[in-house]
Amino acid sequence: MATLLHIDSALNRENSVSRAVTASFRQGWEAEHPDGTVVYRDLAVNPVPHIDTVSYALGGVPEDQQDDAQRAAFAAREQLIQELEQADAVLIGAPLYNYTIPSTLKAWIDHVIVVGRTSAGDQGTAAGTPTTVVASRGGSYAAGTPQEGNDFAVPYLKHALGTVLGLETEFIVPELTLARVVPAMAELIDTADASAAAAHEAASNRGRALAGKLAPASV
Ligand SMILES: Cc1cc2nc3c(=O)[nH]c(=O)nc-3n(C[C@H](O)[C@H](O)[C@H](O)COP(=O)(O)O)c2cc1C
Repeated sequence: MATLLHIDSALNRENSVSRAVTASFRQGWEAEHPDGTVVYRDLAVNPVPHIDTVSYALGGVPEDQQDDAQRAAFAAREQLIQELEQADAVLIGAPLYNYTIPSTLKAWIDHVIVVGRTSAGDQGTAAGTPTTVVASRGGSYAAGTPQEGNDFAVPYLKHALGTVLGLETEFIVPELTLARVVPAMAELIDTADASAAAAHEAASNRGRALAGKLAPASV
């Protein structure tokens, strides 16, 4: 049995493209591996706290010297880290907000990066875990567009998840999601629809493929 850690972070809960595309991944995963475990975190509904003056010191205070606040903060952080360490695959919905990732997702990343444990090159405790990021955005940041170079989400996530945590990352990027909302973008609706369709297909295929690879006995 394989475990999928699924994280969504979009504020929009009704018409979110990243939520819909992560759902496509998950449908593919569950179709292939119905007996698998899915650990779900919705960071918009239940945000984790910012890493703070207490929780940052995880691992730095011997157990018999911890006070109640430290014990509670370390336990909460430990749960997030272990969810990542125990996952066979990770799925993250990461909408673009003000040119970067949601602050809730940054808070989660701050908790799970622990130097010498999860961050230890290819020896990191989650290194090699296949990780799919659905990076939705209202505009386009593709090469040759006016906003080229202004997406600080995908480059940051490639570094934090890929280089620092050693996860095997793949990005699915549905773009121009605001084309149906912003009148000035109306001529981009067809391109936006094609981007969304490609994202759903890629997500569904990847969910199926990863489940088939990680849990072949269930096929
Ligand atoms: C607070 C906020 C900030 C946003 N900032 C950007 C931005 O910098 N660039 C962009 O292209 N779209 C921006 N958008 C639009 C979202 O990226 C777009 O609606 C995307 O589809 C959000 O993901 P979702 O559909 O999963 O909710 C922003 C939306 C919100 C709510």
